[in-house]
Parts: sequence; C-alpha cells; structure tokens
Amino acid sequence: MTNIDISALNQIGYASQFVDRDVEHVVRTFHHHCFSCAGSSLDQRVSTPYLSPADLLRTETRESRFSHISDIIAGRPTSTQTAVSRWPSAKEGRPGIVEFATVAEIVGKAIGADQQGRRPYASGGALYSAETVAVTGEMVSGVPPFSVAHYLPGSNRFEILPSRFDRARFDGVTPFKGAAFYLGYFVNLKRATFKYRSRGYRLALLEIGSMYHQVAAVAQQHGLASRVLAGFSEYAFTKDCGLDSRLLLPVVVQAFGLPGGEDVQ
Ligand SMILES: Cc1cc2nc3c(=O)[nH]c(=O)nc-3n(C[C@H](O)[C@H](O)[C@H](O)COP(=O)(O)O)c2cc1C
Repeated sequence: MTNIDISALNQIGYASQFVDRDVEHVVRTFHHHCFSCAGSSLDQRVSTPYLSPADLLRTETRESRFSHISDIIAGRPTSTQTAVSRWPSAKEGRPGIVEFATVAEIVGKAIGADQQGRRPYASGGALYSAETVAVTGEMVSGVPPFSVAHYLPGSNRFEILPSRFDRARFDGVTPFKGAAFYLGYFVNLKRATFKYRSRGYRLALLEIGSMYHQVAAVAQQHGLASRVLAGFSEYAFTKDCGLDSRLLLPVVVQAFGLPGGEDVQ
C-alpha cells in the first residue's frame, strides 16, 4: 500500500475526531428532511400531492422579480444557442457502447486534480468534502457490468467497491431509461462538518452543484448527454453501492447516455 493510499484511508477517521456531535445530529436530521418533497415517489406514496401540475407550471422556469416598481435596464439579447452551450437534460439514452476509458477521461477532466493538486472547481476551505461514485451499466465496456467505482480525485484512480448492481437495480435507480452509467454524489459527513460545522453541509451541496455542472460540460464534449436527478431512493442507492449512509450522505445522481437527436443543440 502506498503512502497516498494510507493517507486516503485515514481521512474519514481523522476528520471524525473533530466533529461536534450536536452538529452531526443537526446536519443528519436536516439531510433526512430533504428526502421527501413535492413530486417525489415517497411523497406520492404517503400523501396526496399538495401541488397541482398547473401550480407548478405557473412557477417553473419563471424569473423572480423583487419589486414591480423598480427601474428596469434591458440586458443583451440572448438565445439558448448563444447564451448557454449546455445541451438540454437528456430524456433517455439510446443503445450503444461507452468505453470505461471514456468515463474515466470525463470524470478525470471534470473533477480530477492536476499535478499541483488543484481541481477544476472551487471548494469552501479546500475541503473537497463531496465523493463521487460511478455505477456502470451493461453499455460500458472495459469493466464488469454493474460495477461500483469510487473516484479518487487526488490520484485520479477509481477504487472498485465490492458491491455490484444487477440489471433490475440499475434500471430502478431513476426513471431515466437507457443510462450507460450513473455518477452518484455524496457528502462525506465527517469531512464536511469537522471544520465548518453545519455550514460545511451547505458548502458541500454547492460543491456538488459545480461538480455535476463540470461533468455535464465535459461529457457533452465527449458526445454524452446527461440528466441530474434528485428523484431517487437515497437509502436504496447508497446501500446498493455498498456505502454507509450514516457517513456518506447521498445528494444527487447524474445519468449519462448516448444522446438522441433532441438532446443535442
Ligand atoms: C439538482 C437537480 C435535481 C434534478 N432532479 C431531477 C429529477 O429528479 N428528475 C428529472 O427528471 N429531472 C431532474 N432534474 C433535471 C431538471 O428537470 C432539468 O434540468 C430542468 O427541467 C431544465 O431542463 P434543461 O436541463 O433541459 O434545461 C434535476 C436538475 C437538478 C439541477
């Protein structure tokens, strides 16, 4: 085992000794409160949805003006083509093969550290307290199907976890059809809270936002479309990855697939 492996192994344990139990309780409780929300499958199972599709349509994609008596200055004309180079979120992936080398290249370029240890996105306190796990489906060649691989951004390697999905569990991660692979993003609870306490959770969520944005942009350069999905079963996904959901708080998954025509602009 190399020194880099040993220091990586010790990270959760090392940070743990500084974590305030009250902070850990507050963060964990809040994280669990985030599981059920309007439109989630859990919400639909336990209650009658409290928002109608019409209510949602009146708010989704709308801008929020703070006051209707404020002065207005026009911005520059934009279009989706020129202002945002991001493809629309993929609706589904089409069949085909994606090499694991491509997955590794996308992840490495988007969130891996360079020779100086700098990463392509910012992190509060340079803690980098989010962890990324790739779950590959049958369309990914070069690794056994349904592998679970934790990305190590410092050494730009993947550690293959002992857990494996099967087809039913892989297809059931999200309603997204035809995913070649998923990336799951987790807050490393101890690392996130030992220094900045509850604020560290906020920072970790922000960090995950910049991570998936970077990954989507690089994946697009490699011809892969993606969709970020918060609507997944947090416990089931974490358990199927073989991870301890008390230490690694699942936040979001990102599905990747070969684009159909409508996903590409
Ligand atoms: C944090 C986050 C969570 C999301 N969760 C879901 C989800 O659970 N299911 C889904 O179909 N899309 C999900 N989306 C994708 C959004 O619906 C999509 O980005 C939005 O409709 C705008 O469309 P566009 O990405 O094509 O511009 C999520 C996006 C983000 C950023």
